[in-house]
Amino acid sequence: VLPGQHWYEGVLFFGYSPPDILDAVKHFEVRDDDVFIVTYPKAGTTWMQEIVWLILSDGDFERASKQQVYFRSPFLEFKDDILNEVGLDLANPMPSPRVIKTHLPVKLAPTQLCQKECKVVVMFRNPKDLCVSYYHFYRSSSSFGNFKGTWTEFVDMFKDGHVDHGSWFDFTRSWWNMRQHDNVYIVFYEDMKRNLKKEIVKICGFLGKQLDDKTIERISENCSFESMRNNPMTNHLDVYSIDSKISPLLRKGTVGDWKNNFTVQQNEDFDKFYQSRMDEFNIPFQMVF
Ligand code: PPS
Repeated sequence: VLPGQHWYEGVLFFGYSPPDILDAVKHFEVRDDDVFIVTYPKAGTTWMQEIVWLILSDGDFERASKQQVYFRSPFLEFKDDILNEVGLDLANPMPSPRVIKTHLPVKLAPTQLCQKECKVVVMFRNPKDLCVSYYHFYRSSSSFGNFKGTWTEFVDMFKDGHVDHGSWFDFTRSWWNMRQHDNVYIVFYEDMKRNLKKEIVKICGFLGKQLDDKTIERISENCSFESMRNNPMTNHLDVYSIDSKISPLLRKGTVGDWKNNFTVQQNEDFDKFYQSRMDEFNIPFQMVF
């Protein structure tokens, strides 16, 4: 356990999600027209925030070009004393419809989430690519003390759930079990990479939004990896806690980068571990198993 970490109901958190914030998140006042973006870190959260925000605003590219995505779509369990930025304080007065980001497992999410008509978009990414992405984020982020450990150490921390926001396995199981809920929609990162426009159309259907083909085409272009990496409103280059010279948030944006990082042995061990924890759930992750 690194300095600044704490456990909250068995889940590991860093200083930016202190216990009083996690308490308050449970009692967060949800609105029927809220849309929650629910992801484990590094699953493609920022990508989905930008897409959903543009869909709900009927493609307001003008405003999207003037305000950072993290101000248009607050991070619920986030508190930064230096910036005096608190996700709950941003979200509470925000006009509807709100697009709210959270990385929390079901048991720590706002209790009203399943009682209201709000919509929940859950985004999954195959755990090996996600683990690689998380490792590089740990290195670049001062929230994690610019992690100085090795890749091998990080893979073990990831498997053990000794990383920020706890176990990917617990998180993923908890939301997968919610998939039959009418207001929950699961999207895979790999499907978005394969055919972004098709997934955007499906997300519009889930959100009950009808956009013309031109707007959907424009959202799709605006949300390609290259566009978002070059866009100062989405690339997070100005976030003081991320040292983009070590690794930018929009790092590679590909499927299968795990093959460049896992050794053959690490890969076999990871597969075994995955099967022991996840086999019964048959979650259709691609490019992995
Ligand atoms: S965070 O901090 O948890 O909210 O990070 P998150 O946004 O979930 O994850 C960052 C990874 O998502 C990739 N990303 C994208 N991939 C493809 N297309 C687009 N438009 C896109 N936007 C973000 C980003 O590159 C990170 O993955 P890696 O593999 O590290 O590149």
